[in-house]
Amino acid sequence: MNTTHILITGASSGLGAALACAYASPSVHLTLWGRNGERLNSVAAQCRAAGSTAETVVQDLRDVHAIEAQIDRCDENLPVDIAIFNAGLGGVTPQGRLVESAQRAFDIATVNFTAAAMGASTISERMVKRKKGHVVLIGSVAESIPLPMSPTYAGSKAGLKMFAESLRLRVKAHGVFVTLASPGFIDTPMSRQIAADKPFMITPEKAAAIIIRKIASRRTEFALPWPYALIRMLFLMLPRGLKRAIVIRLPSE
Ligand SMILES: NC(=O)c1ccc[n+]([C@@H]2O[C@H](COP(=O)([O-])OP(=O)(O)OC[C@H]3O[C@@H](n4cnc5c(N)ncnc54)[C@H](OP(=O)(O)O)[C@@H]3O)[C@@H](O)[C@H]2O)c1
Repeated sequence: MNTTHILITGASSGLGAALACAYASPSVHLTLWGRNGERLNSVAAQCRAAGSTAETVVQDLRDVHAIEAQIDRCDENLPVDIAIFNAGLGGVTPQGRLVESAQRAFDIATVNFTAAAMGASTISERMVKRKKGHVVLIGSVAESIPLPMSPTYAGSKAGLKMFAESLRLRVKAHGVFVTLASPGFIDTPMSRQIAADKPFMITPEKAAAIIIRKIASRRTEFALPWPYALIRMLFLMLPRGLKRAIVIRLPSE
């Protein structure tokens, strides 16, 4: 039986954990990255119960200099077929501050963009050599909508979108696919930090099922669930002044 090796960052919670559990089956080896070892082990145990083999990597992604060696080690154990860079840091600017602190901006930019770009670059280079592999980046619809209450989050996801588009152009001819999945609200610890209404919110299990289906059909970019694709398209068509008038009214908590 051929084994498919799937690497998922941010697998200790929310969407990453749901992706791991949805992929878990006897023909799959999972490499699950996270920061909280206890939660990561519990997700790995659920995946093993579903028949897959699973390895865990406890890694704080702000320690960016460890990423290349960790990816190399995972890929040398068993070549990675699908690498999903899902780990992310969200939230809104804390009450009492107008803008984020430098430390918070650093953490969000590092986890959401720098670590994902470093990991995706490292694994892409290895996949290109064997002319086979799929890199998946988890963005956000925030990549297209300025968020005054979360500037670094929106900026990091916009950067990830441009990174995905650029990397895809470079590696596609070498047999490597790049997918960018851009969710709206998913019911996870990240979105629970936001007090405002969360329209069209879906469960992490539903989001994982959509993403896995789109990966299998080799979609390059998509928003989920579908109403967010529509909202994003309509928003991008608006004149600049109207866009500004809308985002300035977005709830700030
Ligand atoms: N939830 C939403 O509404 C929503 C909407 C759009 C996009 N997304 C995107 O979906 C992805 C998954 O988010 P989620 O909603 O599942 O959030 P979540 O439940 O908070 O999970 C975030 C994951 O990222 C990991 N992570 C955070 N900081 C890390 C660090 N410094 N080092 C290593 N790992 C770190 C967490 O690890 P530990 O828990 O072990 O610290 C956790 O596994 C993110 O990229 C997010 O931006 C989410």
